Amino acid sequence: ATPASLPVKDCTSITPPYPRLLRTLDEVRNVLPKGTKLTLAEKILYAHLRNPEESLGGGGKVRGERYLKLRPDRVAMQDASAQMALLQFMTCRLPSCAVPASIHCDHLIQAQTGAESDLTRSIEANKEVFDFLQSAAAKYGIEFWKPGSGIIHQIVLENYAAPGLLMLGTDSHTPNAGGLGMLAIGVGGADAVDALTDTPWELKAPLVTGVKLTGQLQGWATPKDLILHLAGKLTVRGGTGRIIEYFGPGVPAQSCTGLATIANMGAEVGATTSTFPYSDNMRQYLHATGRGPVADAADEAAKQGYLSADEGAEYDEVIEINLSELEPHLNGPFTPDLATPLSSFSSFLNENKYPTTLSSALIGSCTNSSYEDMSRVASIAEQAKAAGLKSKVPFLVTPGSELIRATTERDGLQGTLESVGATVLANACGPCIGQWKRDEKKGEDNAILTSFNRNFKARNDGNLKTMNFLASPEIVTAMAFSGDLNFNPVTDSIPTPNGPFKFTPPSGDRLPPTGYTPGDLSYAPSPSPAPEPDTNIAISPSSTRLEILEPFGSNFPSGGGELPKMTCLMRVKGKCTTDHISAAGAWLKYKGHLSNISENTLMTAVNDEGGQINVARDADGSEDTIPKTMQKYQARSEPWMLVVDENYGEGSAREHAALQPRFYGCAMIVARSFARIHETNLKKQGILPLWFVNKSDYSKISAHDKVTTIGLEQVMNSTSTLPIVKLRVEKPSGEVEEIETRHTLSVDQIEWLRAGSALNWIGEQARK
Ligand code: F3S
Repeated sequence: ATPASLPVKDCTSITPPYPRLLRTLDEVRNVLPKGTKLTLAEKILYAHLRNPEESLGGGGKVRGERYLKLRPDRVAMQDASAQMALLQFMTCRLPSCAVPASIHCDHLIQAQTGAESDLTRSIEANKEVFDFLQSAAAKYGIEFWKPGSGIIHQIVLENYAAPGLLMLGTDSHTPNAGGLGMLAIGVGGADAVDALTDTPWELKAPLVTGVKLTGQLQGWATPKDLILHLAGKLTVRGGTGRIIEYFGPGVPAQSCTGLATIANMGAEVGATTSTFPYSDNMRQYLHATGRGPVADAADEAAKQGYLSADEGAEYDEVIEINLSELEPHLNGPFTPDLATPLSSFSSFLNENKYPTTLSSALIGSCTNSSYEDMSRVASIAEQAKAAGLKSKVPFLVTPGSELIRATTERDGLQGTLESVGATVLANACGPCIGQWKRDEKKGEDNAILTSFNRNFKARNDGNLKTMNFLASPEIVTAMAFSGDLNFNPVTDSIPTPNGPFKFTPPSGDRLPPTGYTPGDLSYAPSPSPAPEPDTNIAISPSSTRLEILEPFGSNFPSGGGELPKMTCLMRVKGKCTTDHISAAGAWLKYKGHLSNISENTLMTAVNDEGGQINVARDADGSEDTIPKTMQKYQARSEPWMLVVDENYGEGSAREHAALQPRFYGCAMIVARSFARIHETNLKKQGILPLWFVNKSDYSKISAHDKVTTIGLEQVMNSTSTLPIVKLRVEKPSGEVEEIETRHTLSVDQIEWLRAGSALNWIGEQARK
């Protein structure tokens, strides 16, 4: 039976547009070869195509080959990445967003002493960012979830996720929403802006990995253990360019929130996203969270075959997992794919001479803080308490949302955890994203256990030597009572004055038996707020963290023609990822301030002429850092270009990597090859990317050569359909050489360059 639910919400803006999606899917079936069987992932993606004929027509393989132009239904943004996404959105001066969107204040809350004090302190420290986000949300009609409301992915699951929906989120664990049978994809801010401005969002059709689940979870094994085990099989790269689609008799038995945990950590194997066929457990979760109308609409869509794969659909690869044989796992240290079954964990630690004393235990986060998780964890704590035990180490609990916090508090679960020594932190990311002020163990080797999703070095407490082992919240909690990582809660006992104590396997409720309670409603926005165009955007001119983004001017002469003559600033050697172009770490605080963050541009890049890192030379021979040299060019208004190596801009969709060179005046980048997403981002920001036709021509352009394009004018006027643009390279000696390059500009992208940026063009179109 469905437990008592929250009051039924107005679901108008959160119910997927099923009739439209089903109509598009019908069109798709007419375009694809007759009788094509579709996976669920394909159904959801193709139902969101803007033009099925354009993306799928003409025959040939689609998955892994074709680019899909999509129309996402919704956007969610967290407080760190929302800043630049909104600043960019503002440059096109549209009055409101094209799709419903939400902002979630979660990453900037630092865990230190406990929920209330941490929240007050973090709000004070980040006030200008929160004020800016709130003012932008009001102006453009975006739902704004205040600090303390919870973690983006938990709130999305509780409020916005729906079977068959396509959502973009500016955070890598956005796929968490796949727990409700949808496709939720983590992207950079520039992609989010595509959706917000109704620009076609492009995605290379992913391959589809099918994971067939059979059997039933036993004893201590949980959905978390399934994904920890799968991460070990697939490794951190095994899901790249793929959607993981689960199917088989083991799927319907899993709770909706358990599926969300699995989908969340699909990000750890690099998957585009993960999804599951619609199930009764999803229906119950929708009802329990006040979204009965969404469940009713999904039931109808399911009857028409939308929310599961076609019988006989083929996957690019199939992995079968028998849940009955699954053991609890602990993954790490330092990488989420180093999976060790619980039964061999002690020997794994000892063989590698890793610490065996636990220094802290942390549960919750966006990955594992459902009611089910907390209720099962409380069942372990109850047993320990009855045996007179308390947690041996600091035991921190991060509720995923105010809904979870309030409900677990009302039902006594939180009290049980506190009675054995737990500290409940704010409803925010906290220790999961390094927002954990932990003074003990600084610089020392030590081991922590968390129920989070990532365990790269320094991710939690900034200490490179902290080894984070990922496990289910149940295993983390049980081990906290022993304090010894050799302890296996399934088989071992803990000595007590009354004799040895052994845990029985955890148990709990999937949904609160008396329904959820919303808690403090003041954190939540009013649903579907109307835009308030008169709202002033709150950015202080003296801010060091936020800066209004001025639209870039076009690099092209107003009457048309070639790009003005450019100076080659440097030739970048070898691997140059988006991290090399715009470093993260301490620079993240400047994400909303382009002038300040630009001071890190290419600061770890190698200069091919001389081999030094972060060194460039000006025309007079003076050496300086790369960003300082760029600033000199900018100050002289001297157009410049870069020569770069293979796969330039690989790594992520970080839009800062394109924005920053553009900010300093870069007009063109010529590469041996580009990473595709970054190449598109360059075009979006108005920088022309060109590919050497002969890769050996890379070394024919040197710093301070003057470079002019030949034939670009015809490309821009669409009078040439040839992809070739020649470069005339003039050496300081007066020697001249011509080099062939090719462009990959589409008709739309030519307009972006002409307007100065994609957003300028979108703004121009909207004002016409
Ligand atoms: Fe936040 Fe960690 Fe999740 S940073 S969004 S709790 S992965």
